[in-house]
Amino acid sequence: MQKLDMKYEGKAKRVYATEDQDLYVVEYKDDATAFNAQKRGTIGQKGVVNNAITAILFPQIADHGVPTHFVEKLSDREQLVKAVTIVPVEVVIRNVAAGSFSKRLGIDEGTPLSQPVVEYCYKSDALGDPLINTDTAVALGWASLDDLSTIKDYALKVNAFLKDFFLKRGIKLIDFKLEFGKLSSGEIVLADEISPDTCRFWDAKTGEKLDKDRFRRDLGNVEEAYLEMLRRVEAQ
Ligand code: C5P
Repeated sequence: MQKLDMKYEGKAKRVYATEDQDLYVVEYKDDATAFNAQKRGTIGQKGVVNNAITAILFPQIADHGVPTHFVEKLSDREQLVKAVTIVPVEVVIRNVAAGSFSKRLGIDEGTPLSQPVVEYCYKSDALGDPLINTDTAVALGWASLDDLSTIKDYALKVNAFLKDFFLKRGIKLIDFKLEFGKLSSGEIVLADEISPDTCRFWDAKTGEKLDKDRFRRDLGNVEEAYLEMLRRVEAQ
């Protein structure tokens, strides 16, 4: 599938049109940003790892009842996806307190939550993805109540599948972010990626962080952690 005009360039990916208006090519970059792009760098092999992990997870998520935009992996850094309009509401699912949740509420990182917590943020680089609620999203026309109900149902299904998938591979899924898109038919599908950029992964035995927090917090061995996560995901 030939790449035509670049439709969008984000912090970690580029999206290209193709000769088929219903299909896009997504190209994964090694560029990394954190803290609303105040911290910038590159993580060796990140694009390859995130493309590979997403390409393994998305078809399995679809098998578990959540439709996705994923079509096929094209190369080390490229995948073919269905064209969607991204819903500008990022969904964060938390199983264990960490990151901004711990900071906001004064809860120690690592405190288990008695049920998954679903949070919503407005997807805006300029504003630093502020926390919102579903009323805000409806009032500002970002998503309908029906769409948000579908999105929450899908997010919890993805969480149930991923928690089990990763635990079998010795990884605790602490929290993660999902993005959803709309096909031209209006159908909501899971979009974007699921990777060490968008999830917190802690080794179940040692508690070692195997995700982007190694970059955010200058913990070292960032590339090694990403490659270790790919190894675990590829394990049968
Ligand atoms: O920073 P915070 O604790 O809110 O992040 C929650 C989860 O969502 C983390 O796994 C983080 O990697 C992910 N996230 C993301 N993109 C954002 C914000 C958070 O992938 N813009």
